[in-house]
Amino acid sequence: MLGLATGSSPLPVYAELVERHRTEGLSFAGTTMFLLDEYVGLGRGHPQSFGAFIRREFVRHIDVKPESVHGPDGNSADLEDACTRYESLIADAGGIGLQLLGIGSNGHIGFNEPPSSLSSRTRVKTLADRTRRDNARFFDMPEEVPLQALTQGVGTILEARRIVLLASGASKSMAIERAVEGPVIPMVPASALQLHPQVTVIVDDDAAGGLEGADYSRSTYRRKPPWQSI
Ligand code: GLP
Repeated sequence: MLGLATGSSPLPVYAELVERHRTEGLSFAGTTMFLLDEYVGLGRGHPQSFGAFIRREFVRHIDVKPESVHGPDGNSADLEDACTRYESLIADAGGIGLQLLGIGSNGHIGFNEPPSSLSSRTRVKTLADRTRRDNARFFDMPEEVPLQALTQGVGTILEARRIVLLASGASKSMAIERAVEGPVIPMVPASALQLHPQVTVIVDDDAAGGLEGADYSRSTYRRKPPWQSI
């Protein structure tokens, strides 16, 4: 079971997996996939819906069965029911084995905006202004960014057996610093990952720039990369 994230950060991973599918026969025919989140109110066909995003960037290039790729239904007439059903779907499939994550510049994971309960389940969240500004780049007009989303909760995400968090660029450095070295608090939802036994955080130098544990003398940096595992 693979947990999928949208946004720019996981794109190189998807490109690599597609390449391995093409050249090495890596198969996803038996894999079930779950999206982390979905905007409320964008039709399934809207190019910026996360369902459309993941089909375009990953799913249509591999051999996963379309019916094995799931996302929360942001168009449901009953959003709360859609959230409950999504939780059941994940549980009935046996839970998520590997969850890919990006991180918002405000420390969100999925669309768990601060503050988010560290034991939250899939639910409706109102997007932070900062998140809507960050994501406006994908839309023609900033006002088109939806106001709400359905997102797996922090508690849901923490049940994945392994988690890989990807971040690059200076705009993520404060979020990474607070997630990795700060206190575990609802105002930094990604900090909850400190409670999980199997998390790998992969960052470039810019995203790692705020880490107190980072030592930029290259030898030490290589010997003891304090941000790779928490
Ligand atoms: C979005 C998604 C998150 C993603 C984050 C960062 O809003 N809901 O799952 O991790 O923003 O996106 P990016 O990787 O494009 O910086």
